[in-house]
Amino acid sequence: MPERKPRLEGKVAIVTGAGSRGEGVGNGKATAILFAREGAKVLLVDLEIDRAEETLAEITAEGGVASTFQADVTQDEDCRALVKAAVERYGRLDILDNNVGNSHRETVTEIEPETWDSLMDLNLKSMMLTSRHAIPRMVETGGGSIVNIASIAGVRASKSMAYTASKAGVIGLTIAMAADHGRQGIRVNAIAPGAVYTPMVAWRLSDEMRAHRKNTTMLGIEGTSWDVGWAAVYLASDESRWVTGSVLTVDGGATMRSPHAYRDED
Ligand SMILES: NC(=O)c1ccc[n+]([C@@H]2O[C@H](COP(=O)([O-])OP(=O)(O)OC[C@H]3O[C@@H](n4cnc5c(N)ncnc54)[C@H](O)[C@@H]3O)[C@@H](O)[C@H]2O)c1
Repeated sequence: MPERKPRLEGKVAIVTGAGSRGEGVGNGKATAILFAREGAKVLLVDLEIDRAEETLAEITAEGGVASTFQADVTQDEDCRALVKAAVERYGRLDILDNNVGNSHRETVTEIEPETWDSLMDLNLKSMMLTSRHAIPRMVETGGGSIVNIASIAGVRASKSMAYTASKAGVIGLTIAMAADHGRQGIRVNAIAPGAVYTPMVAWRLSDEMRAHRKNTTMLGIEGTSWDVGWAAVYLASDESRWVTGSVLTVDGGATMRSPHAYRDED
């Protein structure tokens, strides 16, 4: 068997939200580490620079190439600057992983309009802003891959109205960008993670809730940020050269399993 070439060798990637909000490894952090392991040079973008520095330390310890950049991805000028930094530091841009996002649990009769606006800015507008600066740079070198982190909450209700609306928006944005920029060599795909166990949700989960989430899947096992990260590696790599406008569900089969036909323990 020939030795396997790193799957992202020679590529330059941006991961937004490349830190983790708590102990453990979040989706952005896992993705950044896997991108670097697969040979990409990675710009680690985070509002909280200390969090990105932790990811950097792990990548550097493994011999990977990365650097940090502090930015608020809800701000257009910050998005312009982060794309510029990637190209200045590493000479090109091939991959953009739009990972920043947060959940929120209020109904339309509970939420304040300002809260809705800020969640839409964080979860949806940010992906438009980073992409609008990244795409022209990708086109210069023949194309690129954009991976938008949606959620299975974007295709079904999950007691988080604004989150669902924003993640459905991410899927719409993905499809529209894929169509608009396909002929320029830009592929755009979304990942819809299910209930993966990450620092984003760990703080609010009891052992019982955690077991319930696991049991709603077909596989009966818990997902992690590494499952999301590997999906991003595939979509970022040339292995997915004919895949665009798609939503890759990474949920242990939870979305496709009817809650009516199975009990938790089945
Ligand atoms: N954990 C789950 O069960 C689950 C399920 C489905 C989808 N997701 C999605 O995964 C993504 C989050 O992944 P994570 O595990 O890396 O989360 P995380 O909260 O651990 O890390 C996200 C990072 O983003 C940074 N950040 C927050 N606001 C920012 C801003 N305005 N600009 C720049 N950086 C900012 C934070 O500082 C943090 O370090 C979200 O899009 C979320 O909706 C998670």
